[in-house]
Amino acid sequence: MDFNASSAQLLNIKADSLILPTGPQLKDSAAALDKSLDGAISSLIKAGDFSGKSAETLVMHIPGPSGKRIILLGTEGATTTQQQIKVIEAGATALLKTPSARAVWVGEGLSDDAEWQAGIVARSVQTASYNYNHVPKISKKPSAIKLKTVTYWVAGKADASVAKKGLGYGAAVGNGMNAARQLGNLPANICTPGYLADQAKALAKGQPKGQAKVTTTVLSEAQMKKLNMGSLLSVSAGSDQPGHLIVINYKGAKASSKPVVLVGKAVTFDTGGISLKPGAGMDEMKYDMCGGASVIGVINALIETQMPINVVGIIPAVENMPNGQATKPGDVVTSMSGQTIEILNTDAEGRLILCDALTYAGRFKPDTVIDIATLTGAVIGALGKVTAGMLSNDDELAEQLLSSGTRSGDRAWRLPLWEEYDELLKSNFADMANIGGPQAGTITAACFLARFTEKYKWAHLDVAGTAWVSGAAKGATGRPVPILMEYLRSKAK
Ligand code: BES
Ligand code: MN
Ligand code: ZN
Repeated sequence: MDFNASSAQLLNIKADSLILPTGPQLKDSAAALDKSLDGAISSLIKAGDFSGKSAETLVMHIPGPSGKRIILLGTEGATTTQQQIKVIEAGATALLKTPSARAVWVGEGLSDDAEWQAGIVARSVQTASYNYNHVPKISKKPSAIKLKTVTYWVAGKADASVAKKGLGYGAAVGNGMNAARQLGNLPANICTPGYLADQAKALAKGQPKGQAKVTTTVLSEAQMKKLNMGSLLSVSAGSDQPGHLIVINYKGAKASSKPVVLVGKAVTFDTGGISLKPGAGMDEMKYDMCGGASVIGVINALIETQMPINVVGIIPAVENMPNGQATKPGDVVTSMSGQTIEILNTDAEGRLILCDALTYAGRFKPDTVIDIATLTGAVIGALGKVTAGMLSNDDELAEQLLSSGTRSGDRAWRLPLWEEYDELLKSNFADMANIGGPQAGTITAACFLARFTEKYKWAHLDVAGTAWVSGAAKGATGRPVPILMEYLRSKAK
């Protein structure tokens, strides 16, 4: 998809669709267009065909050389960032339903922040054009995307160059989300730990000279054993698929600049292990690698934008299965940190792989570490599918993530990490148990991780509620790529 910005005469831009955000009162370009079309738009409003309400869309066809259709996009009542993003996403969905090849998006009627708005437009158009790339192929092919070019229109030249920056950023975020969605949607018989390692290696290939350096290294189980990652290896023990620790190093800034380390849980399938999950809905546990997929999506977007920042992505990739070598409830393992863990439930496996990856993260002398994980069902009980749960040992980092969530529309909400919760992890057979009982499951999971992150600024995103949607339109969402990219963008500035 091509995105460009223009402040040329609106009807002179070659296009077959024009997206026009407007409320019931026509202003600026909407009023001018209406006038040049002899009141065609205002008469649709008068007749009640289009009310201008937030996220309403109406496709109207116009005669003459100016273009084939106008997609009216209602804006009335969209005052918050979140509401404005919903409007833009509705516009992108409506646009992709038409057979347009070239579209003009009128950058009026919503936010005055041209860079932000252009970014959300580009991101939304990219994500609306995602088609699951079937592996293996199925006979029912998705219809090809016709849209080739989107021109973001603004009234002034200065705004056009600002919008252009937003378009490049937003398009990259959208592509990163789509990359994460594709990995999430792939079934677990294809998307194995080895498959993820291959994808991460492919990311590092073909960087032209003069661009940010990207290197991928993959640690084998034997190498992890030498590092004493007894906790991580206890999860892959029950699977025929070998586990991998994937490390992707993106160097966009000078070597002395400390990296942000992103650690993404990638359990390519979570049966629960010996603490087997119930059968109903277990297929959704193919998405239990969405944290790791979001790290790959972010690195994708960093490469595309060449963002001037250093980022290390660490992805512990394993399958949680119950074979004869599997870890049993009551087993005690020693983590890389030296702390011992009594595994009371093999289904609380995410924290077991993350703790060793988080210890390993310390090697990179990080500025900040953020882990991303589909960690607990409890976060869905607490926050639903609307927002990610966020826990942090640093108030400033927590604030930065909250505001990055708001600006990107990919929100997070903070939960406390108090010692009263940590006490629930007590064990008389090891330094800690891997579960804290039936209460406050998201917090006790994070308290477990906090015991491995004391040496650096750290935040944890529990995305079990937001990384995918269920039902007829089931699939991975690409979250939390937007909030992570927004956070990195604000740091790179
Ligand atoms: N991957 C699951 C968390 C999950 C469950 C995500 C349902 C989305 C939907 C995780 O590994 C898990 O099984 N967590 C357990 C922890 C419990 C055993 C303490 C859970 O949430 O039930
Ligand atoms: Mn589990
Ligand atoms: Zn899991």
